[in-house]
Amino acid sequence: MAKAIEIENFSYAYPDGTVALDKINLSLEHGRKLALIGPNGAGKSTLLLAMAGFVKGTGRVVVDGLEINRKNLKKIRARLCSCLENPDDQLFMPTLFDDIAFGPLNMGLTPEEVKARVGDALQTVGLTEMVDKAPHHLSAGQKRAAAIATVLSMAPKIITLDEPDGSLDPRNRNNLLKLLASLPQTLIIATCNMNFAAALADRAVLVDKGRIIADGDAKEIMSDSKLMTEHGLEVPGTIR
Ligand SMILES: Nc1ncnc2c1ncn2[C@@H]1O[C@H](COP(=O)(O)OP(=O)(O)O)[C@@H](O)[C@H]1O
Ligand SMILES: [Mg+2]
Repeated sequence: MAKAIEIENFSYAYPDGTVALDKINLSLEHGRKLALIGPNGAGKSTLLLAMAGFVKGTGRVVVDGLEINRKNLKKIRARLCSCLENPDDQLFMPTLFDDIAFGPLNMGLTPEEVKARVGDALQTVGLTEMVDKAPHHLSAGQKRAAAIATVLSMAPKIITLDEPDGSLDPRNRNNLLKLLASLPQTLIIATCNMNFAAALADRAVLVDKGRIIADGDAKEIMSDSKLMTEHGLEVPGTIR
Protein backbone atom coordinates (compact mmCIF):
# COMPACT_ATOMS: atom_id res chain seq x y z
CA MET A 1 0.00 0.00 0.00
CA ALA A 2 1.18 3.53 -0.74
CA LYS A 3 2.40 5.62 2.16
CA ALA A 4 0.14 8.41 3.39
CA ILE A 5 2.94 10.93 2.89
CA GLU A 6 6.38 10.69 1.34
CA ILE A 7 8.55 13.76 1.19
CA GLU A 8 11.98 13.62 -0.40
CA ASN A 9 14.52 16.39 -0.15
CA PHE A 10 11.88 19.11 -0.15
CA SER A 11 12.98 22.72 0.24
CA TYR A 12 10.94 25.89 0.03
CA ALA A 13 11.74 29.60 0.32
CA TYR A 14 9.04 32.28 0.48
CA PRO A 15 9.16 34.97 -2.24
CA ASP A 16 11.03 37.32 0.15
CA GLY A 17 13.85 34.77 0.37
CA THR A 18 13.03 33.29 3.81
CA VAL A 19 14.02 29.63 3.72
CA ALA A 20 11.08 27.97 5.49
CA LEU A 21 11.87 24.34 4.67
CA ASP A 22 15.36 22.97 4.10
CA LYS A 23 15.80 19.45 2.65
CA ILE A 24 12.88 17.77 4.40
CA ASN A 25 12.61 13.98 4.27
CA LEU A 26 9.56 12.38 5.83
CA SER A 27 7.65 9.16 5.32
CA LEU A 28 4.38 8.39 7.09
CA GLU A 29 2.22 5.27 6.94
CA HIS A 30 -1.57 5.43 6.86
CA GLY A 31 -3.45 5.32 10.15
CA ARG A 32 -0.81 7.13 12.19
CA LYS A 33 -1.20 10.21 14.34
CA LEU A 34 1.84 12.38 13.84
CA ALA A 35 2.65 15.45 15.91
CA LEU A 36 4.67 18.05 14.05
CA ILE A 37 6.30 19.91 16.91
CA GLY A 38 8.59 22.91 16.96
CA PRO A 39 8.77 26.50 18.17
CA ASN A 40 7.06 29.43 16.43
CA GLY A 41 8.57 30.03 13.03
CA ALA A 42 10.03 26.50 12.79
CA GLY A 43 8.31 25.73 9.49
CA LYS A 44 5.38 23.60 10.72
CA SER A 45 2.68 25.52 8.86
CA THR A 46 4.75 25.67 5.69
CA LEU A 47 5.31 21.91 5.85
CA LEU A 48 1.54 21.35 6.13
CA LEU A 49 1.01 23.69 3.17
CA ALA A 50 3.58 21.70 1.18
CA MET A 51 1.73 18.43 1.95
CA ALA A 52 -1.46 19.94 0.54
CA GLY A 53 0.25 21.34 -2.54
CA PHE A 54 -0.26 24.96 -1.53
CA VAL A 55 3.44 25.83 -1.80
CA LYS A 56 5.64 24.62 -4.59
CA GLY A 57 9.28 24.06 -3.74
CA THR A 58 12.05 21.74 -4.88
CA GLY A 59 12.07 18.01 -4.17
CA ARG A 60 9.16 15.58 -4.12
CA VAL A 61 5.96 15.40 -2.12
CA VAL A 62 3.86 12.27 -2.65
CA VAL A 63 0.42 11.93 -1.05
CA ASP A 64 -1.17 8.47 -0.93
CA GLY A 65 0.96 7.41 -3.89
CA LEU A 66 0.26 10.53 -5.97
CA GLU A 67 3.07 12.98 -6.56
CA ILE A 68 1.95 16.56 -6.12
CA ASN A 69 1.73 18.19 -9.52
CA ARG A 70 -0.93 20.04 -11.48
CA LYS A 71 -2.36 16.83 -12.96
CA ASN A 72 -2.82 15.10 -9.59
CA LEU A 73 -3.86 18.05 -7.45
CA LYS A 74 -7.63 17.53 -7.70
CA LYS A 75 -7.32 13.85 -6.71
CA ILE A 76 -4.95 14.74 -3.89
CA ARG A 77 -7.32 17.36 -2.49
CA ALA A 78 -9.97 14.64 -2.11
CA ARG A 79 -7.55 12.43 -0.17
CA LEU A 80 -5.77 14.99 2.02
CA CYS A 81 -7.69 17.86 3.59
CA SER A 82 -6.28 20.65 5.72
CA CYS A 83 -7.73 22.29 8.81
CA LEU A 84 -6.31 25.79 8.70
CA GLU A 85 -4.87 27.51 11.76
CA ASN A 86 -7.76 29.96 11.96
CA PRO A 87 -11.22 28.33 11.66
CA ASP A 88 -12.61 31.65 10.39
CA ASP A 89 -10.62 31.07 7.19
CA GLN A 90 -12.55 27.84 6.68
CA LEU A 91 -16.06 29.04 7.56
CA PHE A 92 -17.45 31.58 5.12
CA MET A 93 -20.99 30.50 4.20
CA PRO A 94 -24.27 31.81 5.72
CA THR A 95 -25.00 28.59 7.63
CA LEU A 96 -23.01 25.72 9.06
CA PHE A 97 -24.87 23.36 6.70
CA ASP A 98 -23.64 25.33 3.66
CA ASP A 99 -20.06 25.34 4.92
CA ILE A 100 -19.97 21.59 5.51
CA ALA A 101 -21.83 20.89 2.25
CA PHE A 102 -19.42 23.06 0.23
CA GLY A 103 -16.73 20.40 -0.29
CA PRO A 104 -19.06 17.47 -1.09
CA LEU A 105 -21.07 19.69 -3.51
CA ASN A 106 -17.84 20.59 -5.31
CA MET A 107 -17.04 16.89 -5.55
CA GLY A 108 -20.25 16.48 -7.55
CA LEU A 109 -22.16 14.38 -5.03
CA THR A 110 -25.97 14.25 -5.24
CA PRO A 111 -28.03 16.44 -2.86
CA GLU A 112 -28.99 13.32 -0.87
CA GLU A 113 -25.37 12.23 -0.55
CA VAL A 114 -24.35 15.74 0.45
CA LYS A 115 -27.06 15.85 3.13
CA ALA A 116 -25.91 12.50 4.50
CA ARG A 117 -22.26 13.64 4.55
CA VAL A 118 -23.19 16.83 6.39
CA GLY A 119 -25.30 14.91 8.91
CA ASP A 120 -22.53 12.42 9.60
CA ALA A 121 -19.86 15.12 9.94
CA LEU A 122 -22.01 17.19 12.32
CA GLN A 123 -22.72 14.15 14.44
CA THR A 124 -19.05 13.19 14.63
CA VAL A 125 -18.07 16.63 15.94
CA GLY A 126 -21.18 16.99 18.15
CA LEU A 127 -22.74 19.98 16.38
CA THR A 128 -25.94 18.42 15.01
CA GLU A 129 -28.11 21.05 16.72
CA MET A 130 -26.14 23.90 15.16
CA VAL A 131 -26.76 22.96 11.52
CA ASP A 132 -28.67 26.17 10.67
CA LYS A 133 -26.51 28.56 12.71
CA ALA A 134 -24.32 31.21 11.18
CA PRO A 135 -20.73 29.96 11.65
CA HIS A 136 -19.56 33.38 12.89
CA HIS A 137 -22.00 33.06 15.80
CA LEU A 138 -20.31 29.91 17.10
CA SER A 139 -17.94 29.85 20.10
CA ALA A 140 -14.22 29.21 19.59
CA GLY A 141 -14.61 25.54 20.50
CA GLN A 142 -17.61 25.14 18.21
CA LYS A 143 -15.81 26.91 15.37
CA ARG A 144 -12.89 24.53 15.69
CA ALA A 145 -15.26 21.54 15.62
CA ALA A 146 -17.14 23.07 12.67
CA ALA A 147 -13.91 23.56 10.70
CA ILE A 148 -13.08 19.89 11.31
CA ALA A 149 -16.58 18.95 10.10
CA THR A 150 -15.99 20.82 6.80
CA VAL A 151 -13.03 18.51 6.27
CA LEU A 152 -14.71 15.29 7.49
CA SER A 153 -17.56 15.76 5.00
CA MET A 154 -14.99 15.33 2.21
CA ALA A 155 -14.17 11.86 3.64
CA PRO A 156 -10.39 12.28 3.19
CA LYS A 157 -7.89 9.57 4.15
CA ILE A 158 -5.48 12.12 5.59
CA ILE A 159 -6.19 15.25 7.64
CA THR A 160 -3.67 17.93 8.55
CA LEU A 161 -4.41 20.28 11.43
CA ASP A 162 -2.47 23.48 12.09
CA GLU A 163 -2.36 24.30 15.83
CA PRO A 164 -5.91 23.00 16.38
CA ASP A 165 -5.58 23.53 20.16
CA GLY A 166 -5.02 27.28 19.76
CA SER A 167 -7.44 29.58 21.64
CA LEU A 168 -9.33 26.70 23.26
CA ASP A 169 -10.12 26.49 26.97
CA PRO A 170 -9.13 23.26 28.77
CA ARG A 171 -12.57 21.67 28.44
CA ASN A 172 -12.74 22.34 24.71
CA ARG A 173 -9.15 21.20 24.31
CA ASN A 174 -10.03 17.90 25.98
CA ASN A 175 -13.12 17.52 23.80
CA LEU A 176 -10.97 18.15 20.74
CA LEU A 177 -8.43 15.56 21.91
CA LYS A 178 -11.18 12.97 22.30
CA LEU A 179 -12.58 13.80 18.87
CA LEU A 180 -9.20 13.61 17.14
CA ALA A 181 -8.26 10.42 18.97
CA SER A 182 -11.49 8.81 17.73
CA LEU A 183 -10.91 9.61 14.05
CA PRO A 184 -9.71 6.70 11.90
CA GLN A 185 -7.90 8.98 9.44
CA THR A 186 -4.17 9.58 9.26
CA LEU A 187 -3.67 12.79 11.23
CA ILE A 188 -0.79 15.25 11.04
CA ILE A 189 -1.06 17.78 13.83
CA ALA A 190 1.18 20.82 14.02
CA THR A 191 1.41 22.13 17.56
CA CYS A 192 3.77 23.76 20.03
CA ASN A 193 1.64 22.46 22.94
CA MET A 194 3.53 19.38 24.10
CA ASN A 195 0.74 18.18 26.41
CA PHE A 196 -1.63 18.20 23.48
CA ALA A 197 0.88 16.42 21.25
CA ALA A 198 1.72 13.81 23.90
CA ALA A 199 -1.94 12.99 24.49
CA LEU A 200 -2.60 12.31 20.83
CA ALA A 201 0.42 11.34 18.81
CA ASP A 202 2.25 8.04 18.44
CA ARG A 203 5.02 9.67 16.44
CA ALA A 204 6.64 13.08 16.69
CA VAL A 205 8.68 15.02 14.19
CA LEU A 206 10.56 17.95 15.69
CA VAL A 207 11.14 20.78 13.23
CA ASP A 208 13.26 23.87 13.83
CA LYS A 209 14.63 26.44 11.40
CA GLY A 210 13.08 24.53 8.49
CA ARG A 211 14.86 21.27 9.26
CA ILE A 212 13.82 17.99 10.82
CA ILE A 213 15.75 17.75 14.08
CA ALA A 214 14.25 14.50 15.43
CA ASP A 215 11.78 11.94 14.19
CA GLY A 216 10.50 8.96 16.15
CA ASP A 217 8.40 7.73 19.03
CA ALA A 218 6.43 10.68 20.38
CA LYS A 219 6.96 9.95 24.08
CA GLU A 220 10.67 9.28 23.61
CA ILE A 221 11.28 12.55 21.77
CA MET A 222 9.14 14.69 24.05
CA SER A 223 10.65 13.28 27.25
CA ASP A 224 14.13 14.38 26.14
CA SER A 225 14.30 17.57 28.19
CA LYS A 226 17.62 18.71 26.67
CA LEU A 227 16.22 18.38 23.17
CA MET A 228 12.95 20.09 24.11
CA THR A 229 14.73 23.00 25.82
CA GLU A 230 17.22 23.46 22.99
CA HIS A 231 14.33 23.99 20.61
CA GLY A 232 12.22 26.23 22.81
CA LEU A 233 9.76 23.51 23.84
CA GLU A 234 8.92 21.80 27.12
CA VAL A 235 8.54 18.25 28.35
CA PRO A 236 4.81 17.51 28.65
CA GLY A 237 3.50 17.19 32.20
CA THR A 238 2.13 13.69 31.75
CA ILE A 239 5.52 12.17 30.89
CA ARG A 240 7.78 14.40 32.97
N1 LIG B 1 4.19 34.46 3.77
C1 LIG B 1 5.43 34.44 4.24
N2 LIG B 1 6.41 35.20 3.69
C2 LIG B 1 7.68 35.19 4.16
N3 LIG B 1 8.09 34.42 5.17
C3 LIG B 1 7.17 33.62 5.76
C4 LIG B 1 5.80 33.61 5.34
N4 LIG B 1 5.13 32.74 6.12
C5 LIG B 1 6.02 32.23 7.00
N5 LIG B 1 7.25 32.77 6.77
C6 LIG B 1 8.51 32.45 7.47
O1 LIG B 1 8.80 31.06 7.24
C7 LIG B 1 9.32 30.45 8.41
C8 LIG B 1 8.44 29.29 8.80
O2 LIG B 1 7.17 29.78 9.17
P1 LIG B 1 5.95 28.85 9.55
O3 LIG B 1 5.90 27.70 8.60
O4 LIG B 1 4.76 29.72 9.65
O5 LIG B 1 6.40 28.32 10.99
P2 LIG B 1 5.53 27.71 12.20
O6 LIG B 1 4.23 27.28 11.63
O7 LIG B 1 6.37 26.59 12.72
O8 LIG B 1 5.38 28.79 13.21
C9 LIG B 1 9.41 31.57 9.46
O9 LIG B 1 10.72 32.08 9.40
C10 LIG B 1 8.41 32.59 8.97
O10 LIG B 1 8.78 33.87 9.38
MG1 LIG C 1 2.35 27.81 12.17
